[in-house]
Amino acid sequence: MRSSHIPFAHNLFKSVLNEGSFTLDATCGNGHDTLFLCQLITKGRILAVDLQKEAIDKTKDRVQESYPKANVEYIQTCHSKIAQLTEPETVDLIIYNLGYLPGSDKRVITAPSSTIKSLESALTLLRPGGYIIVTTYSGHEGGLEEERAVLAFAASLSSNQFTVSHTRWISLENSPTVLAINKL
Ligand SMILES: C[S@@+](CC[C@H](N)C(=O)[O-])C[C@H]1O[C@@H](n2cnc3c(N)ncnc32)[C@H](O)[C@@H]1O
Repeated sequence: MRSSHIPFAHNLFKSVLNEGSFTLDATCGNGHDTLFLCQLITKGRILAVDLQKEAIDKTKDRVQESYPKANVEYIQTCHSKIAQLTEPETVDLIIYNLGYLPGSDKRVITAPSSTIKSLESALTLLRPGGYIIVTTYSGHEGGLEEERAVLAFAASLSSNQFTVSHTRWISLENSPTVLAINKL
């Protein structure tokens, strides 16, 4: 049985977005998630961030092909710097799909320290009612360590300020997981 983490995460995106939403994709990679956001957000704004130029170019090409009028800004930077990209309490949804760029250099992977720094900024950028949704992978080198760091960070959040849920496909060894943080 294969994990259905991608449709699961996309359904979560769908449940929290509307046509005018403001979203930030903090690991745009090959652009599949950004493209899905473009389907849903026809009047809003999307920031697509990745460390690698290759990922930014791939995302831009994918979006241009299907949604040439989409309001997407492409930013090549480390996601630990997202606090510089917009105002606090303005973003409806911030997404992360951790790990490496499929089909590319597997040595360029998200790392616990920068991911946690980014999540701290994401909490500030999120408007009340907004969500952070993180897909984690433990199967690659360093993935389990990062997943544990992300879950420990999420579990430490105050339940007066955030609700946190975590989904894992328990019939699969090393399954991807999907974490959702909702700012109250
Ligand atoms: C699993 S891929 C993302 C896949 C993407 N969401 C999609 O739908 O195609 C992970 C991405 O994280 C990027 N990445 C790694 N470290 C990063 C960092 N510190 N800041 C921003 N992006 C980073 C990689 O370049 C890679 O493109």
